[in-house]
Amino acid sequence: MSVANQLEQSAMQYASQAVQFDRMGNREKAAECYNNAIDQLQKLVRLYPDYTFNRLYIEKVTTYKERIKILKSEDGEEAGYEKFTSFESRQTSTADTTEESKEIVEKPNVKWAEVAGLEDAKKAIKEVIVYPVKRPDLFPLGWSRGLLLFGPPGCGKTLLAAAVATEIDADFIQIDPASIMSKWLGAAEQNVAKIFSGARKNAIDGTPVIIFIDEVDSILGVHTNEVGGEVRMRNQFLKEMDGLQDKGKNYHLYVVAATNKPWDLDWAFIRRFQKRVMVPLPDYATRLQMFELNCTQLELTPDVNLHELTKITDGYSGSDIKDVCQVVRQEVIRELFESGKAYEKTSKPRAISMKDFVTSINNRKPSVSKEMMVSYDKWFDQFKAL
Ligand SMILES: Nc1ncnc2c1ncn2[C@@H]1O[C@H](COP(=O)(O)OP(=O)(O)O)[C@@H](O)[C@H]1O
Ligand SMILES: [Mg+2]
Repeated sequence: MSVANQLEQSAMQYASQAVQFDRMGNREKAAECYNNAIDQLQKLVRLYPDYTFNRLYIEKVTTYKERIKILKSEDGEEAGYEKFTSFESRQTSTADTTEESKEIVEKPNVKWAEVAGLEDAKKAIKEVIVYPVKRPDLFPLGWSRGLLLFGPPGCGKTLLAAAVATEIDADFIQIDPASIMSKWLGAAEQNVAKIFSGARKNAIDGTPVIIFIDEVDSILGVHTNEVGGEVRMRNQFLKEMDGLQDKGKNYHLYVVAATNKPWDLDWAFIRRFQKRVMVPLPDYATRLQMFELNCTQLELTPDVNLHELTKITDGYSGSDIKDVCQVVRQEVIRELFESGKAYEKTSKPRAISMKDFVTSINNRKPSVSKEMMVSYDKWFDQFKAL
């Protein structure tokens, strides 16, 4: 076992003991164990400064320190374990393995029509997910379960994933890196297994399920400093993906992953996603549609020419364009407040002019560079799924 692994394990053991003592009301022992856990975590962070879970470890250290302070305080009431609001019991107690995972299951309610352009991507997604859900009988050989969306930031990957879930009325289980970091200490691979088994249960009961992993590179990418938990979590994930492909599984459980940095993923991961779809920078028609979408609720002066704006925003992403429109809106609202008129109930901000838009565009450089786009094309050439 590597040093990192040992430290992680022993931190977990101490923390779990601490929680048990804490529950029983043995304050002294609990504080001692929290202290030991802190020592291990601090060592881990010092030894592996680039480790993905460090942020979480540092948070833990703070939580444990606070808990120790309360345990050592005079006020008995305050020390009640029930008041210990952190997630400790769930995360570190091995007794709680039966608990269902707490990932968000929701219907995101994004419609296809809200996703501008991206016709190729939409078509690919329909082929992979929508058609098999609507007519499974037409796919006697089964269907793929993994879809990887990649491309520059702010161009609609997250939006697309949500739109698919709406289209097939699927449960949408979103695993985002932040929630993984804060919930998956130690038991990361168990939690991956739990998420998949919960999803499988629903899918077998007949509800299509989409597990969506946004910014997948940050948790399942290849990092230079892989230690313990990360490797185990990745392997578990790969195992779950393979399980989905087993013959005779005709339920609808899909894994959709999105990334801005596909090159951080390795082949073991990539090949489990049979369908890889590039979500590129918006072309002219798409940008025009985006301006239209973003301007529906804005009052514009007659001189505003959306075609002209579309022309001068070549290279801008969907989220850049949204920002441009938000900035002009904020600007007229700010003016209204500064004029003092905002406090009259019926007052309205002035209409937005072409000049407002152009100023906003000039102040906002595109967030994606040409070189970056070349990298995406190169990557796609190498890994595109046939
Ligand atoms: N194709 C698009 N159609 C409509 N809005 C878009 C599109 N692409 C980006 N946007 C806007 O930018 C925001 C960020 O997009 P997002 O889907 O999160 O991008 P990504 O996941 O590719 O980084 C969206 O919430 C939306 O407002
Ligand atoms: Mg996104």
